[in-house]
Amino acid sequence: MKNIIKHTYHISKEDRNRLNNHNSFVVWFTGLSGSGKSTIANQLEKKFFDMGLRTYSLDGDNIRSGLNKGLTFTEEDRTENNRRISEVAKLFIDAGIITITAFISPLKADRKHAKEIIGADNFIEVFVNTPLEVCEQRDVKGLYKKARQGEIKNFTGISSPYEKPENPHIEVKTENESIEESVERIFKVLQAKLEYN
Ligand code: PPS
Repeated sequence: MKNIIKHTYHISKEDRNRLNNHNSFVVWFTGLSGSGKSTIANQLEKKFFDMGLRTYSLDGDNIRSGLNKGLTFTEEDRTENNRRISEVAKLFIDAGIITITAFISPLKADRKHAKEIIGADNFIEVFVNTPLEVCEQRDVKGLYKKARQGEIKNFTGISSPYEKPENPHIEVKTENESIEESVERIFKVLQAKLEYN
């Protein structure tokens, strides 16, 4: 970018990872509203935290009510939402923190862009594959009902698309396994990535 000259800092991500004695990376959850993303992300963070690892969770509550306040659910705004989250996640992993994101992130192109921004080596995609019927039946927040009644526009799965990941690192099926089982399975895959040497 014109007139922007990057400064080189003495302390790098590698230095911070060495100090923390673990690697930092992004665990990127994707799935429909009500699929269980935040619940699983929350438990996974707790497991890491209890092990003494440095973590942070980014989700709709802390991002859409602050940094991304004002962004709507049009395709254009979701793309911008996802881009900003990716940039923030990149800063967090540079800071040495295991970063867990829980956003619908419904578009393949946006998730691909997230992977590019964050870096493929630091991006682990977890697909919470709960079918629409199940999410709609649970309807924890009552949003599906409102969307069916036309009170919410551009609702994912109803009036806005969700493009399933074709090759996620991990796929979770919340109908068939408990939260604890899902977290354990995800943890096993991530365990190999944790160790800093
Ligand atoms: S996205 O698609 O990645 O930009 O969405 P995200 O930032 O994760 O926000 C999803 C949460 O916003 C609430 N909500 C909606 N979701 C989907 N479509 C529409 N139109 C919508 N309006 C509000 C909803 O509570 C989502 O939370 P989760 O945790 O996914 O259920």
